[in-house]
Amino acid sequence: MSWTEKYRPKRFSDVKGQDEAIAKIKIFLDNFPRTKAVILHGPPGTGKTSLVYVLARETNSEIFELNASDLRNRDKLREILKPAMEQKSLFKEKKLILVDEVDGITASDWGGLPELLALILQTHYPVIITANDIWKKELAALRKKSDMIQLKEISYKTIKEILFGILKKENLVLEDKNLTKIAINAKGDLRAALNDLQAEAGIKSEMIEIAERNKEVDIFNALRMVFKGKPQEETMRIFDSVNMPIDEIILWIEENIPAEYQGEELARAFELLSRTDIFKKRIYRQQYWRFLVYENFFLSYGISSAKKNIKTGFTSYKKPNRILKIWLNNQKNEKKKSIAGKYASFVHIGEKRAMNEFPVIKNILRNPEIQKELKLSEEEIEFVERG
Ligand SMILES: Nc1ncnc2c1ncn2[C@@H]1O[C@H](COP(=O)(O)OP(=O)(O)OP(=O)(O)O)[C@@H](O)[C@H]1O
Ligand SMILES: [Mg+2]
Repeated sequence: MSWTEKYRPKRFSDVKGQDEAIAKIKIFLDNFPRTKAVILHGPPGTGKTSLVYVLARETNSEIFELNASDLRNRDKLREILKPAMEQKSLFKEKKLILVDEVDGITASDWGGLPELLALILQTHYPVIITANDIWKKELAALRKKSDMIQLKEISYKTIKEILFGILKKENLVLEDKNLTKIAINAKGDLRAALNDLQAEAGIKSEMIEIAERNKEVDIFNALRMVFKGKPQEETMRIFDSVNMPIDEIILWIEENIPAEYQGEELARAFELLSRTDIFKKRIYRQQYWRFLVYENFFLSYGISSAKKNIKTGFTSYKKPNRILKIWLNNQKNEKKKSIAGKYASFVHIGEKRAMNEFPVIKNILRNPEIQKELKLSEEEIEFVERG
């Protein structure tokens, strides 16, 4: 779904940068039928069509739309307009008659113009016309009979704010300078800005997906080697080439042991895994980083040698979804805590307050000099910069 559709304004407050036009169209409606028609004019992508739909929604009206081909033929137009020309009391609902993009109609299609002008004289419903260029000579007669409301180009700042809000809703981040670039390039046209943003975000999320997929190919291959292959020197190093923290690898192994091992093998593999866990605790508690080597060794060579014979055939390994999510979340929280802790002691505030104000602090910590000052680790820097 295109973002211009998805984020089409629904209420007056969603139509940005057009407060004056909104106020004027409300007045036009309040005063109807003093003036029967209004022309909303202004550059593309500034909210003309959107404003009409919002107006209909907010006033509980139905939109009766006339298009170019309706306007081509006088008799046909009269036919179409009949219900709209009828006595208002026959209809319960309110109606707005919309003639969208009137300046897009070519001269030969203007056979219905006199009928449109007649409609404006007799209509029981407000007529709203939109146009980019109202100074075409064909429109002179229409101009005389209508109020005019101008929609302005939307400032790049407003555009940027809107884009930012949408990214947030989409759970995406884009570098500030790219956002600014898109906003400026749009030259006041919000539709263009939204399309550019969606294209840019599309490329980005695809890249993230590919990276994720590569990561999984790596781990699947490594699992295959450990579970199926003969334990050998190579096996010991297999997880070095998998771009994944060792704790996450443990989850993958744990999830997939039962898919490959049975009986005694199964028991031995889980026994080894629990020993890995003991090492892990020692490592964390006592900061014995050299134990990491053992942890890695048990996970690769150890688990591999838990089987009696090498295995053949294809096994489809599973992603450890539920536990992985919990683990990733804890992991994130740990990092957040340690960063907040460093910041808190540096600026002399409580750790709890630093946690609460983390979104703000995170922005401050994007500054490389502050990162240095707080001695953030590489992983912590990555964490604050990832957004
Ligand atoms: N002022 C605005 N506030 C919020 N969103 C807007 C605004 N203007 C345009 N948009 C976004 O751009 C899309 C296109 O806007 P819209 O169709 O109203 O433009 P328009 O002025 O009618 O353009 P055109 O002259 O090309 O018909 C909308 O769906 C909406 O997502
Ligand atoms: Mg439009």
